[in-house]
Amino acid sequence: MKKMSDLGRSLKIVLKTTKSKALSRFVPLRHIANEVRVVMLFAINYFNQGVPGFSLYRKLNLPNWYHDFSIVGIKTRTFREGGYDLSQKIKEPILFNYIENASGIVKARNGEKKTPSSLVDLFCADAYYSIYALHNDLVELAVGVDSEEGSGEGFVRGGVLDQADTISKICTLQGKLSLNKSDVMEYRGVFDICLCIGGLYHISDPLSLLRRISAQTRHVLVIQTIIPSHVNEETPFFVTPAPHWTWGSRFNKKYLIDALTGMGWTISAVDVKPMLVNSNEWDKLSLSLLCVKNPDKTVTEFP
Ligand SMILES: C[S@@+](CC[C@H](N)C(=O)[O-])C[C@H]1O[C@@H](n2cnc3c(N)ncnc32)[C@H](O)[C@@H]1O
Repeated sequence: MKKMSDLGRSLKIVLKTTKSKALSRFVPLRHIANEVRVVMLFAINYFNQGVPGFSLYRKLNLPNWYHDFSIVGIKTRTFREGGYDLSQKIKEPILFNYIENASGIVKARNGEKKTPSSLVDLFCADAYYSIYALHNDLVELAVGVDSEEGSGEGFVRGGVLDQADTISKICTLQGKLSLNKSDVMEYRGVFDICLCIGGLYHISDPLSLLRRISAQTRHVLVIQTIIPSHVNEETPFFVTPAPHWTWGSRFNKKYLIDALTGMGWTISAVDVKPMLVNSNEWDKLSLSLLCVKNPDKTVTEFP
């Protein structure tokens, strides 16, 4: 038997009581009450079967969201409320600012170009940053790429692309945002902006991904990654797998900046902030970089 919601059960009780007592003596009123009762029962059925409106309401209220989407007027409940979401909030204002800057650079460089401005969002999860960019008209097209399982934390990441799809439909962005469940190492296409947020430290060979990004990005690269707090910044440092994980890698700021400079990027902004809720010294700092492509570099799809 289907599970009855509390609301549904109370409505049924009220209707049953009303029918059996007072209304049985007043035929016209009872007739109306019956009509109401039928409508109510339909509503109860719909609730129990999860019609789109109600299942959407239920989905938005589950405490399993990667982000709270209040930035587009949709309140969603994040997992590990009061912990994980605080880390997100630390990087968010910096990254919003970088994305706005990136959009300005693309508009200035593209001039009167007729092709729509585009963005690829690698390790997109729920595509929070793509949705921010599209919702605020900072780009016209966005592609999100996420494997939903590559991090070794599959139970947390499963369903993130569905969350992206749900928000994109509510915000009527379907024609503008496409979502690909695939490995970032295989993404295709040339884009004006690349977002590589919260991902590089999840993979064992970040330089190989950076080479692909450098070939396939026309103008701006926004990177955010976690870096260790206890490693000397004078010399480049890299290790794989991440010392406390069985996957991923860890590197310092110098390693990343040297690599990017060598691949034709000018680093135009750097921000380092403590990730307050991360206790392990390998995950202690959030590094964000705004990288602008040197104008002499050509773009081409990577083989
Ligand atoms: C820390 S989350 C970052 C989410 C989002 N960009 C943000 O910062 O809010 C990392 C995401 O990368 C995805 N991921 C990890 N390794 C991947 C790979 N090799 N290819 C595609 N996605 C991957 C995970 O599924 C997860 O959703």
